[in-house]
Amino acid sequence: MSLNSLGIIGCGSMGEEISTFINSGKIQNAELSCVFDQDETRLQQFSKKISKKILLTSSIEEFLSIEKINLVVECASPAAVTKYGELILKSNKNFLAMSSGAFNDPKLLKFLEKIAKQKSLKILIPSGAIGGIDAIKSIQNQIEKVSITTTKHPRSLAGAPGFQNFENTVFDKAKVIFNGTAQDAIEMFPANVNVSTTLSLAAIGTKKTQVKIICDPKSKENKHEICIIGPFGKLNFSMNLKPNERNPKTSSLAIYSVIQTIQQFCNPNISLGT
Ligand SMILES: NC(=O)c1ccc[n+]([C@@H]2O[C@H](COP(=O)([O-])OP(=O)(O)OC[C@H]3O[C@@H](n4cnc5c(N)ncnc54)[C@H](O)[C@@H]3O)[C@@H](O)[C@H]2O)c1
Repeated sequence: MSLNSLGIIGCGSMGEEISTFINSGKIQNAELSCVFDQDETRLQQFSKKISKKILLTSSIEEFLSIEKINLVVECASPAAVTKYGELILKSNKNFLAMSSGAFNDPKLLKFLEKIAKQKSLKILIPSGAIGGIDAIKSIQNQIEKVSITTTKHPRSLAGAPGFQNFENTVFDKAKVIFNGTAQDAIEMFPANVNVSTTLSLAAIGTKKTQVKIICDPKSKENKHEICIIGPFGKLNFSMNLKPNERNPKTSSLAIYSVIQTIQQFCNPNISLGT
């Protein structure tokens, strides 16, 4: 099997861990060629932590001009997916998008899908910090009701536009701070609830997916509880995830799901649960 050359967008908490994993040689048929980040300071900090010599750049043009890169792994922000998705595909590179919240705009995914089809490329959206996507996809056209309740510590919600009014609040008990659709949730919590968009894509869309966000000062975990109802019965999935040490908004499961998606892309002969 031939070697796949990977490029990563974003050298934050996910980008760093994924780079380290690829460089360790644990993914067969994969090598890391370049990391792009718009933030020069972050790139400099990252350069001190990375063991192998790879190209680090703050120029998207330089990044996309590397012909041998055949898979771009986005670990940056929904804005990066919107800004670079088309350029990535038009540069003949497969595209793994971690910031699925960008696909709250259904036109964007349809537009990118059209380019990917024309060029026989893949768009990969990992399950991220949730599970059960395989089962949900199987009964997608029968789903009547879908909801997700996300519980996080205030520290995991800090900085979100939807948390602005609570930044100085001292929480003494759990409080519901958002109750609405996935469409609105990602606008207000862009770095916290990509999971609700991923769930919507697998189920019945952002407008029909109910999202509740609970801020709990006693919570030591990022918790996601999914409930799906239809003629098939009821599906319940519950994730209790340790926040990533460097970025408490992210759970380590999300990082492992990207690694698994890369592993599958580079070694496609056996496919379990997809
Ligand atoms: N789908 C999921 O379940 C899931 C789970 C966790 C995180 N995420 C998402 O994955 C992304 C990465 O998470 P993280 O914890 O590593 O974030 P992070 O904030 O630690 O790092 C993001 C990095 O990307 C860079 N960046 C942001 N926008 C950019 C742009 N437009 N162009 C170039 N560089 C840009 C930043 O400078 C930063 O270095 C976030 O969008 C996060 O919301 C998704």
